[in-house]
Amino acid sequence: MEIIVDHTLSLRAVTVEDTERVFAITDASRSTLREWLPWLDMTTEVQHTRAYIESNIAGYKERKCLSAVILFHGKIVGIAGFNNINHANETVYIGYWLSKGAQGHGIMTKVVHALCQYAFEELQFNKVEIRAAVGNTKSRAIPERLGFVKEGTIRSAEWLYDHFVDHVVYGMLANEWTKTS
Ligand SMILES: CC(C)(COP(=O)(O)OP(=O)(O)OC[C@H]1O[C@@H](n2cnc3c(N)ncnc32)[C@H](O)[C@@H]1OP(=O)(O)O)[C@@H](O)C(=O)NCCC(=O)NCCS
Repeated sequence: MEIIVDHTLSLRAVTVEDTERVFAITDASRSTLREWLPWLDMTTEVQHTRAYIESNIAGYKERKCLSAVILFHGKIVGIAGFNNINHANETVYIGYWLSKGAQGHGIMTKVVHALCQYAFEELQFNKVEIRAAVGNTKSRAIPERLGFVKEGTIRSAEWLYDHFVDHVVYGMLANEWTKTS
């Protein structure tokens, strides 16, 4: 899978050759990412990133998930994709993170727009869902910018190291996407 977003930005399915770079940006952005992602303390060595990538490649082969590297001017700056692909319900669940230095430029909003287009046009699915912690304003701003509908809140949806956070659920349906994009 490869998606050219524009002349500076593209996405492609992650490969084991990406391991070193993905681990390097994870390590360099550790404190920023750890605020909202639960796996930083389990990702302390390059082999942990390799195991994550290998399990994603296996999941992709079974059409269960899709993890893509984000390339900005040819360099990997983050990961985005479908954490889960639910074929029976024609729904994908998008997840994402960006290295510290790549944040604040609108990269992820463009990437998520491209992933929605892929889900609706390529996969012909009916729904894209994004879940973010209530306090994660930067993440929530992405579905909000793209016109997703805020569908509700799930209480104590995720354990983050030493506390639970509630999640806000955002949804976009295929028929809404055609009208907004
Ligand atoms: C969530 C996350 C990817 C958001 O990153 P981001 O850089 O804020 O998102 P975008 O790339 O879409 O950029 C938006 C920012 O760029 C600015 N921007 C500049 N040009 C822009 C453009 N053309 N379009 C949209 N935004 C633009 C926006 O104003 C915004 O900045 P602001 O928050 O200061 O207003 C990032 O904070 C992250 O990796 N967080 C940790 C992991 C995480 O929380 N993942 C999600 C779990 S649900």
